[in-house]
Amino acid sequence: MTQNGVPRVSVIVVAAGSGTRLGADVPKAFARLGGSTLVERSVHAVAGMSEAVQLIVVAPAGLVDDARALAESAFGAPVSVVAGGSSRQRSVANGLAELAASAEVVLVHDAARALTPSTLFDSVVREVDARGHGVIPGLPVSDTIKRVGEAGDIHETVDRSVLAAVQTPQGFPRTDLVAAYAAASSDETDDAGLVTALGLPVSVVAGNELAFKVTTPADLRRAEDALGASATPLPRIGVGTDTHGFDPAAELWLAGLHWPGESGLAGHSDGDAVAHAITDALLSACGLGDIGGVFGTSDPRFDGAHGEVFLAETRRLVEAAGFRIGNVSVQIVGNRPTFAPRRGEAETRLTRLLGAPVAISATTTDGLGFTGRGEGIAAIATAIVVQQSRTVG
Ligand code: CTP
Ligand code: MG
Repeated sequence: MTQNGVPRVSVIVVAAGSGTRLGADVPKAFARLGGSTLVERSVHAVAGMSEAVQLIVVAPAGLVDDARALAESAFGAPVSVVAGGSSRQRSVANGLAELAASAEVVLVHDAARALTPSTLFDSVVREVDARGHGVIPGLPVSDTIKRVGEAGDIHETVDRSVLAAVQTPQGFPRTDLVAAYAAASSDETDDAGLVTALGLPVSVVAGNELAFKVTTPADLRRAEDALGASATPLPRIGVGTDTHGFDPAAELWLAGLHWPGESGLAGHSDGDAVAHAITDALLSACGLGDIGGVFGTSDPRFDGAHGEVFLAETRRLVEAAGFRIGNVSVQIVGNRPTFAPRRGEAETRLTRLLGAPVAISATTTDGLGFTGRGEGIAAIATAIVVQQSRTVG
């Protein structure tokens, strides 16, 4: 700012492109990244500059009012918003027509470079002031670059040590940029192209990895990763155990299977320790409480109920809470029944019930403890659940 509060720096954010390569259902600047649009993020970066500036946003013709609402709330001050043209160059030209009389330095920035830090804007302004001519941020090129013919035939390897991949914001003395646009005879993809075409000096200064341009869906994912705002939440894990003593008068139901000739398990329901341990693991993974709280031992619906009744209802609750089951792993601890011969049958049955892989192993305890003495069975289950993807925003 000059002393009377009039900005001497203007920033033009070009956001009028359609974003063909991104292929979103809205123009690219209105695509969302971690809850806000690309144009809002770019405007927010301008708002974070150390010097107060005039902000001009160039928007698609039909979205000028929407862009103004988004930009002004992200900027916290009035913003000039104008409609863009059929090319980036025309859009910048429309923005230049809005320059405040006080503007001495002009920065042009692609809204699509939504994660550009405010400090890069500041350093571009500083370099323009220090050098008295245009500066653009750039990064060294790390790939080997070939000049190729139309048929893919290689003509030569280009010396990459003399190359820079350039970014925005590009900053210029106002007079240089205005003169370059007034004289424009070629179609350039950046502003420095027109300024150098006029024979005016422009230097490359240090760019920033975060100033990359969101062009394709993969770029948007890269931006989400950089933000730590990936749409994929971390999976959640749960653990559950259950123990039942043998009741020789009862039928044995274990892992959803009937075991004729084996001693049954005592319990309010059928005593299927595997099904009950899985139920607790799943409820716990989703933060839904535990089997006693959810099913209630006094509820007559579950009196004598088979394990699959618990599992089917648990799956319904898990899915209703917005989760999907990843997988379940259970270990049975006990001497009887000999589980291995029916492992496949049990796993298939429970996998079908839960709609996710269920693996079951069994072990004895070397004669130790209540399981070793053959007094009962214990089961320990772990489960993974994943939050179903939600709409970003
Ligand atoms: N831009 C603009 N007006 C245009 C074309 C582009 O303001 N007529 C802006 C874009 O909004 C973007 C920046 O210029 O912020 C860089 O352009 P690019 O990445 O090519 O964006 P799009 O043209 O929107 O994308 P695509 O080329 O894939 O259609
Ligand atoms: Mg384009």
